[in-house]
Amino acid sequence: MRYQTQRIAYPYFLGALFLFAVQIIFGVLAGIVYVLPNFLAEILPFNILRMIHTNALIVWLLMGFFGAAYYLIPEEAEREIESPILAYVQLGLLMFGTLASVVGYLFGIHGGREFLEQPMWVKLAIVVVALIFLYNISATILKGRRTAITTVLLLGMWGIAFFWLFAIYNPINLSLDKLYWWYVVHIWVEGVWELVMASILAFLVIKMTGVDREVVEKWLYAIVGLALFSGLLGTGHHYFWIGAPGYWQWIGSIFGALEVAPFFAMVIFAFTMVWRGRRDHPNKAAMLWTLGCTVGAFFGAGVWGFMHTVAPVNYYSHGTQVTAAHGHLAFFGAYVMLNLAIITYAMPHLRNRQPYNQVLNMWSFWIMTSAMAFMTFTLTFAGVVQVHLQRVLGMYYMEVQEQLGLFYWMRLGAGLFVAFSVILFLYAVLGPAREDRPARLAAAPEPAE
Ligand code: HEM
Ligand code: HEM
Ligand SMILES: [Fe+2]
Repeated sequence: MRYQTQRIAYPYFLGALFLFAVQIIFGVLAGIVYVLPNFLAEILPFNILRMIHTNALIVWLLMGFFGAAYYLIPEEAEREIESPILAYVQLGLLMFGTLASVVGYLFGIHGGREFLEQPMWVKLAIVVVALIFLYNISATILKGRRTAITTVLLLGMWGIAFFWLFAIYNPINLSLDKLYWWYVVHIWVEGVWELVMASILAFLVIKMTGVDREVVEKWLYAIVGLALFSGLLGTGHHYFWIGAPGYWQWIGSIFGALEVAPFFAMVIFAFTMVWRGRRDHPNKAAMLWTLGCTVGAFFGAGVWGFMHTVAPVNYYSHGTQVTAAHGHLAFFGAYVMLNLAIITYAMPHLRNRQPYNQVLNMWSFWIMTSAMAFMTFTLTFAGVVQVHLQRVLGMYYMEVQEQLGLFYWMRLGAGLFVAFSVILFLYAVLGPAREDRPARLAAAPEPAE
């Protein structure tokens, strides 16, 4: 670690990992309800379990992004973070708002509107969190060395804050409500978060492969261009059935299909760079998560998104288990794996250790990705059967659900494996370090860049 203030990332990563654990616990509880419908019904109904599962997910991913920004910006900008105090205040406020929301949810207090259930004061507190963060990183970046990575990261982070504002506006008209809801939900994950993703990947690739910055930067700009070109109008794939004008069927289908491109480019980018790279970086686990992330995102977002993004298909699949299958693999492959990659990369530096417990970390990689893939397959099969019985044959919703029991048991099974692999991951990055470093690596100096 070359700069003192990079250490700010540490509590951010700890907070993120804590909420990751919360997310998975509530996911498993929700998965149990799917097979034993009365489970916890009197104490914590399904909608609350689901809310905590999805909200914890979004917040921990954001917290991880913030941590990643504080970690990589000093190295890129060659300058300490403007105000460490503000960074800690920001973390405290975000954690407080999150925990207060969760406690509120447990008592049934929430604002409805899937994913954006936080009470209004929390939404406003998030705006304050965003402003503190943007001030802090913008000041650092603008006063330091400017690189493509920090420029793209900054653009992504400003975008995240800007589109969050639409979470605060909730029109009475249901069509308009949905229209703006997707400004947050879609433009985040298929627009501005992709910029954050591309810049963090570029940082990891430069550090771990030693490939020239100029080459990485060309790729970075290409990916950003593809993401914005396809992703903004791609919002149309959510405007098919909400009462929006008919031309959205075309726009959403065409630009939705193009959304595969930036994810495909990220795979090619990461693999060519590693292939061309001349450095044998000791943190093999971080490399695995980095490459795996591009592949996971390509399948989860790209392939599983493409599957239902054209209007004539979406007409049948809309809101079925096909959507849940895609939602899981996309969020996991792109943003969960990205966070686990940067955390795996940064933790040894933050804890002042050599890369340690790599084998355990890599086991958690393989178990987690296999289990998430299996969960995606079971949900996809469930979705296809559901579409056929419900939308083609016209059976009743609950009648169809009874036919899907086996898939839901398998989803729960996969979920338990995910939970197990998360414990492995936490132990690998937070547990006692294996101090002995193979002699081959101990001799090699820490690569600067
Ligand atoms: C990492 C990026 C992505 C993430 C995290 C993501 C996540 C999600 C989630 C959670 C939903 C469900 C929303 C809801 O109704 O509650 C969804 C819906 C959808 N996604 Fe994605 N997605 C991503 C990328 C893509 C891409 C690239 C495509 C197209 C190729 C796509 C196509 C769709 C479509 C068509 C729907 C609507 C499904 C329906 O009608 O029920 N997504 N996505
Ligand atoms: C890191 C891994 C995970 C991610 C990224 C994730 C993400 C999500 C997302 C985005 C949704 C909303 C889906 C939609 O609107 O279509 C969701 C719902 C759900 N998740 Fe997860 N999840 C993960 C792990 C788990 C695990 C381990 C389980 C355990 C079985 C689980 C069970 C559920 C259930 C039951 C729902 C509610 C589905 C519904 O409303 O029909 N998830 N998850
Ligand atoms: Fe979308």
